[in-house]
Amino acid sequence: MSYTPLPLPKKVTSISIEEAILIRRSIRRFKDEPISLEQLSMILWAAYGITDHYKGFRATPSAGATYPLEIYTVIGERGVAKDDGGYVDAGVYKYVGELHALRLVRRGDYRDVLAKAALGQQWVRRAPVDMVMAAVFERTTRIYGERGRLRYVPMEVGHAGQNIYLMATALGLGTVAIGAFIDDKVAEIVVENRHEVPVYIMPVGKPAEVFKVVFEDIENYIMMHRRGVA
Ligand SMILES: Cc1cc2nc3c(=O)[nH]c(=O)nc-3n(C[C@H](O)[C@H](O)[C@H](O)COP(=O)(O)O)c2cc1C
Repeated sequence: MSYTPLPLPKKVTSISIEEAILIRRSIRRFKDEPISLEQLSMILWAAYGITDHYKGFRATPSAGATYPLEIYTVIGERGVAKDDGGYVDAGVYKYVGELHALRLVRRGDYRDVLAKAALGQQWVRRAPVDMVMAAVFERTTRIYGERGRLRYVPMEVGHAGQNIYLMATALGLGTVAIGAFIDDKVAEIVVENRHEVPVYIMPVGKPAEVFKVVFEDIENYIMMHRRGVA
């Protein structure tokens, strides 16, 4: 098996949680530039990395710590830059949290076919990297039954997705949560077995333009609306 170890998680950003929440937006236009392996490492760690060295708990809360999600990364040609000046080979990789590493699933640049499977959403093709989240519902339904399928797993997908949004934002990158795609086609391109159901695609890259907002803008917005009810 071929593993690519990721740079170890560490404190890399200087932005506060309230600033990250303030400036987070869904980004659909990206620069034609790679992201760094360190940035990819931090995004994967935020999504589903280990944050408890006793129990192996992860960055995302999980009903009964059943951890139904698998996180894949679809890396494009020259999509992820390494420190030595080279690039990670284009391919579909699975994130292995305990090793904080990527395991190669299949070689090649699959962004184009993935964009087609996502009803032609061009940001999937143009981003240097697409995160793809898949759910193994049985891990949670085994304990919680239908409630696990209808509520707990989708809730957890939201938690992991928000972690990706906020870490991408804090790193100066952008992403968008994509729920509109043909499940079977995405599964064919990305996942390793039929138990894994694709639930989100999140393209990640450098935003083509930066969304500007400061707390003062929000204060003005709120005060204007308050005047309307006073
Ligand atoms: C469950 C879910 C599915 C979404 N699916 C798509 C999608 O398929 N394509 C897309 O461009 N944006 C998608 N979005 C992003 C929303 O359009 C976006 O969050 C919304 O317009 C608000 O903008 P903001 O994220 O910048 O606050 C989705 C968001 C959620 C939560």
